[in-house]
Amino acid sequence: MIDVAFLGTAVRPAGTAVVVDVLRATSTITLALASGYERVLVAGTIDEAKALRTPERTLAGEVGCARAPGFDLGNSPEETREPRGAELVLATTNGAPAIVAAAASSDEVLVASLLNLDAVLAQLVGREDILLVCAGTDGAVSMEDVYLAGRLSAQLEGERSDAARIAEAVAAAYPNPVDALEASAGAVGLHREGLESDIAFCAQESVIATVPRLAETVDGIAVIETADEPGI
Ligand code: MLT
Repeated sequence: MIDVAFLGTAVRPAGTAVVVDVLRATSTITLALASGYERVLVAGTIDEAKALRTPERTLAGEVGCARAPGFDLGNSPEETREPRGAELVLATTNGAPAIVAAAASSDEVLVASLLNLDAVLAQLVGREDILLVCAGTDGAVSMEDVYLAGRLSAQLEGERSDAARIAEAVAAAYPNPVDALEASAGAVGLHREGLESDIAFCAQESVIATVPRLAETVDGIAVIETADEPGI
């Protein structure tokens, strides 16, 4: 069965959970690993991320789309292009908690964005119990995440739930991905903070072959790595 959880808080156990936060957490994780970070330590809260700080680690994250106070980086994907070390710590409002929640309920967790759409689809061939987890924005269902869930669902073989069909209908309504992203509440926050270039960046499709996946969970922190060689 292919199913969709429209919010990170609606996650349930599944054979494979695929977490989606197009604007911007899963796009940032995808580019960070493709750029050469060895792992991303995903924290459910800003305070948990701060507790992971060491001189070797880079802290990234946002509050209200702006860089979290005292952090090295915000949540703009392109800030991760030049790794400052092996480990990036990431805390965001919705995407990071969705990944932590998925990690607590499913053994296999993948991280999807438009950037790595085709690579994620290739990993899902033959899987029979797939839950596409939309992170949402500020606790509400978000257009861009449902759009990507629909894009993924539409290309997968197998029985699908009504939720998956709804996501596919949303995806079909936007021939151009950037229009789906611009229609979202997340885009409003990014325009407000002067970060609108992130929208165009995150709307790029299948430009990265890296598929981030859950390696382990340590004290509630989801450790995300990739088996793929870095490269963009
Ligand atoms: C989130 O986790 O809520 C998002 O990634 C917010 C953002 O655009 O930074």
